[in-house]
Amino acid sequence: MKKHKIALVAGARPNFMKIAPLMKELSKYDEFEPMIVHTGQHYDENMSALFFDQLNIPKPDVNLEVGSDSHARQTARIMERFEQFCLDEKPDLVIVVGDVNSTAACTLVASKLHIKTAHYEAGLRSRDKSMPEEINRMVTDAISDLYFTTSKDADENLINEGVSKDNIHMVGNLMIDTLANNLERTHDISINLERMDGSTVSFGKDIQKEQYGVMTFHRPSNVDKKDSLEKLVNIWDKVSQKLPLIFPAHPRTIKNAENYGLLDKMNDINNLILTEPIGYLEFINLLSNARLVLTDSGGIQEETTYMGVPCLTVRPNTERPITIWEGTNKLIEIEQIEAEVENILAGKGKAGKRPKFWDGKTASRIAKVLTNGFY
Ligand code: UD1
Repeated sequence: MKKHKIALVAGARPNFMKIAPLMKELSKYDEFEPMIVHTGQHYDENMSALFFDQLNIPKPDVNLEVGSDSHARQTARIMERFEQFCLDEKPDLVIVVGDVNSTAACTLVASKLHIKTAHYEAGLRSRDKSMPEEINRMVTDAISDLYFTTSKDADENLINEGVSKDNIHMVGNLMIDTLANNLERTHDISINLERMDGSTVSFGKDIQKEQYGVMTFHRPSNVDKKDSLEKLVNIWDKVSQKLPLIFPAHPRTIKNAENYGLLDKMNDINNLILTEPIGYLEFINLLSNARLVLTDSGGIQEETTYMGVPCLTVRPNTERPITIWEGTNKLIEIEQIEAEVENILAGKGKAGKRPKFWDGKTASRIAKVLTNGFY
């Protein structure tokens, strides 16, 4: 039997939990030969290798080691190196996930080499082109051959953009596969957090449920400009007096805080535990026990919806509206943070339900679709 070579592309942290269950599932089929291409967009130990270790993802077959740069230069480097990979390995199918620069760059390359492409997490739209991710989503979906979606609104977006229904498969959420597969295991780990100032904080298995909030902020719109980052730092200070906050900060946020002279102030906030990025298992443990989550991330809106933890998303829009319609997510502005936190502390946080097919079985649905052969 001819094996179909499938290249799974991952570049940045949120991609890794999406490819983990898919790689495992595709490996069970004799007819598939899955390979992992790491573009190297994220390269720090705790933004990349740690996730491969904790999620038992096989070592990438190739690492393109593109690193960080301006959007154009990073995208160009991914394209050049991924083209060579495709010419050497001749995959039958390229699967890309999410909305990062690696997603759009590799789809463009594969399409022009007449290699079939599939986009997992297709059709999500924030309708905000000031987000680089929205441009990546639009570019990727304009030229993909096969579309795997996480929710019905994504199907509708794709159909409205002229994609044939036959090529769209609503399969559910791969990130939730990873969460469902690992949630129990996360309760058995103890957490040792190293604060940016060098001191350490440890939580054992007796972590105080709902006694703290978790934060993540890294969107350019929130952290790239001094005035909005400064506003946020002042609000974190105030909020942390009502509820201690744990903040594993993205390198982009730390770099900006340093450049704007705000890092010392962040470190000095008493009830704010500021750390470097932490592992997946530690993060999910913290999330699942949190009173609330304050974020501007995409994936965390979904993870909190699955776990029923109230989530305040500090963004003007979201490409994941199902987390608002059905889940625990609420979009707010910087100025609303304090009042909304009070609201949740007063027991008025949003309750929600799990969206359709967010059940831990998405990877097997995708594999089944692929066995129907679309090559
Ligand atoms: C990227 C994705 C974003 C995703 C985020 C998750 C794009 C356009 N954006 O944003 O959608 O939510 O990843 O983390 O693809 N850096 C490090 N170490 C690393 C990686 C990055 O220090 O391992 C630094 C870089 O030097 C750069 C900054 O972080 O200064 C931004 O990295 P980059 O990959 O360009 O974008 P992200 O902000 O991480």
